[in-house]
Formats: sequence, structure tokens, C-alpha cells
Amino acid sequence: MTQQVLTILGSTGSIGESTLDVVSRHPEKFRVFALAGHRQVDKLAAQCKQFRPEYAVVGDAGHAAELEKKLKQEGIDTQVLYGSQALIDVASADEVSGVMCAIVGAAGLPSAVAAAQKGKTIYLANKETLVVSGALFMETACQNGATVLPIDSEHNAIFQVLPRDYTGRLNEHGINSIILTASGGPFLNTDLSTFDSITPEQAVKHPNWSMGRKISVDSASMMNKGLELIEAHWLFNCPPEKLEVVIHPQSVIHSMVRYRDGSVLAQLGNPDMRTPIAYCLGLPERIDSGVGELDFGALSALTFQKPDFDRFPCLKLAYQAMNAGGAAPCVLNAANEVAVAAFLDKRIKFTDIAKVVAHCLAQDFSDGRHDIEGLLAQDAQTRRQAEAFIGKQ
Ligand SMILES: NC(=O)c1ccc[n+]([C@@H]2O[C@H](COP(=O)([O-])OP(=O)(O)OC[C@H]3O[C@@H](n4cnc5c(N)ncnc54)[C@H](OP(=O)(O)O)[C@@H]3O)[C@@H](O)[C@H]2O)c1
Repeated sequence: MTQQVLTILGSTGSIGESTLDVVSRHPEKFRVFALAGHRQVDKLAAQCKQFRPEYAVVGDAGHAAELEKKLKQEGIDTQVLYGSQALIDVASADEVSGVMCAIVGAAGLPSAVAAAQKGKTIYLANKETLVVSGALFMETACQNGATVLPIDSEHNAIFQVLPRDYTGRLNEHGINSIILTASGGPFLNTDLSTFDSITPEQAVKHPNWSMGRKISVDSASMMNKGLELIEAHWLFNCPPEKLEVVIHPQSVIHSMVRYRDGSVLAQLGNPDMRTPIAYCLGLPERIDSGVGELDFGALSALTFQKPDFDRFPCLKLAYQAMNAGGAAPCVLNAANEVAVAAFLDKRIKFTDIAKVVAHCLAQDFSDGRHDIEGLLAQDAQTRRQAEAFIGKQ
């Protein structure tokens, strides 16, 4: 059996830690070549101690010096690198077979593209890569023989219930539509008149999933589902009108595929990211993930409802950006990242997030180039526009 050699980008985050938990259960199958965090030096040092990678990457020289010192004290000979070029280097190194892309935000884009250019197996958690540059990323992966495996639980569920030989054309497989389930987040039933006073602490408390702060806020605003629609559009080559969203507050069904003959195939499980991570890492084998069995006796009803755009304007904006295409999803994502950071810093209200995104989507961005440099320039310009708008609030 050949051992997979992995680079784990975003190892200090929620997905990164779940990945290392799965990896630690199968030392015979996986070797860690590189780990990359950004600021959490203590956590990264502990991970280096356990997994002994060749390289560890952090955000800047200061954090690198701190990490080097800690590793030296422990007698660990992992080499410390820093900065965005280092992320690209460890994602594209010849020794590496698979790259877990679990950095949060558009910052994860260049390293994911580098892995695609080198034909790696890409375990894609960073949904922003597909939102910002879906066409380009999928094309790059295809041209270079890279395999893109979806870690996001919804896309992973869809991947599991699509035919094995799925060609990227729904019709050929008798598929009518793809259905993304959404929990509706912590404010599904909250009185709308109180939305202005929602605090970051309330917004990051997801009822079912334990996740990083940014994606938790996105779940609360349902922007996360909007980003996932765009992600599904590119991953499965699915036209926007064939993508459905249904709210399913229990988060037991992780998504579904509706077939022409009336069948709807679903994937179920406890809400724990180690399941999709283990599915992708183990392919074609099913490997142990550490996730407990779904207990049907303990489940109450599974319920479903339609999303309400008045309650979740961010979802509507995401549909708008997906339908507009071009640079619109890149603008949507950049504006949202700035707005969520400002909300977490208590500079704007929860309800302002959608206002910031709508403002940026209303700007003229039709002239921009759609290659990576052009999209990154658009991303930077939108961030400036979003900050300026926030400054006037
Ligand atoms: N969590 C989930 O259940 C879940 C599910 C589906 C998809 N996803 C997606 O997976 C990605 C990661 O989510 P998460 O919840 O794991 O986030 P998280 O817990 O906030 O972790 C983010 C990771 O990215 C690193 N990071 C932050 N800013 C960075 C930068 N500018 N450059 C390089 N690295 C940076 C962080 O390093 P430090 O912490 O060391 O600073 C950390 O390792 C996101 O795209 C999210 O949408 C997450």
C-alpha cells in the first residue's frame, strides 16, 4: 500500500484539526509533509510535535521566529517557513500527493491554484476558491490532471450520491436537480425585529456544527449557503436553475440529488466534518473517522422548509451574483469577508453585512480581467470599497 503524503493548509483551524484527527487514526496510510497555520503558533508547535512534518508555515517572520524557538526547545527539526509563497511551495512540492485546502477566505486561493497546477489530489474545504475563481480553478485542475474532492459537507454528500461515473452533465445521468440542505443557523426562528441587536457571540453559536468564526457568521446570515450554491455550480457543472436550497434544521441530511424517475438520493450522518474528510482521504476505501453512528432512536422529526429571503438577504445576493457570473461572485465574497470581519470587530451590525455586500455588487466591475491576477485585483478593489462604505456607516 502506498502512503499518501499530505500538506495540510489551515491545519490550526477547525477543518485542519478534524483532518489531523482522521490522519492520526491511520498512520500507515498517511504521512504529513507540511502543516500551515497563520497566527496560532502554540497549536502549530503541538501539531509539529505529534506529526513531525518536514515543513511548518506561518503568516509572517515574527510568528516564524516564535515557532522556530518553540520547536528548537522541543528538539523538533521541522523547518519553519512563512508567507504566501511558502504556502504555494508546500502545496506544490514534488513529494506531496494530496493537499488539504482549509485556509479560510480568499487567502486560500493562490495555494489551491498552485496545487491544481501541479496535478495534486485537492481536498477542497476552502469554498472561496470556487466562489472567486470557479471556472479558472476547475479548468486548471482539469488541464493538469488534478483531482478535486469536496470536503464541504453538502458537496461531499452530493458527491457521494452522484453516479460514480458522473460526467458533469446532469441530463446524461437522469438528474433533475441538486438540493443543498441548510440548517438555517441560530436565527431561523428569531424575531426579525431583533436582528439589529444580534451580537457576534450569538452569531458564532451554531446549533449543530462546530466551525471557525467566519463560516459560523456566514451560516447565521445564510451567506454560507449562497457561497455553497456557487461552489456546487462549478464543482458539478450544475446550472443555477438546477440548484435548490431547502432548510433542514436538524442537519442530519447533508444534501440530496433529485433523479428523473422520482428518486431522491440523500446522504445522512451526524454533523461532524470528520465524515466528509475521511470519505475523501480514504477513497476508494471507507475508513474509520471517529464519528459515532447516527442514532435513529434519538432522532425526532426531520423537517424541511423553504428559505425566506427577507430573513436571509445574503442568500438572495448570492443567487444574484451566481446568475450574473463573471467577477460578481468574487465581489460578493470579498465584500462579505470584509463585512463579517467588521461585524466580528463590532464595527457594524449583523444586518449591515447584507448592506455592505449589496453596495459592492452595485458598483461597476465589468471591465476587470478574469484570470487569477485580475480576480485578485478585483478582490482588493472590492475590499477597499467595502471598507469605505463601512467607514460611512
Ligand atoms: N469548519 C467547518 O465545519 C467547515 C465546513 C465546510 C467548509 N469549511 C471551509 O473551510 C475553510 C476553513 O474553515 P474553518 O472553519 O476551519 O476556519 P478556521 O477555524 O477559522 O481556520 C482557518 C485556518 O486558516 C488559517 N488562516 C487564517 N487566515 C489566513 C491567511 N490569511 N493565510 C493563511 N492562513 C490563514 C488559520 O490559521 P491560524 O488559526 O493559525 O491563524 C486557520 O488554520 C473555510 O473556507 C470554510 O468555509 C469549513
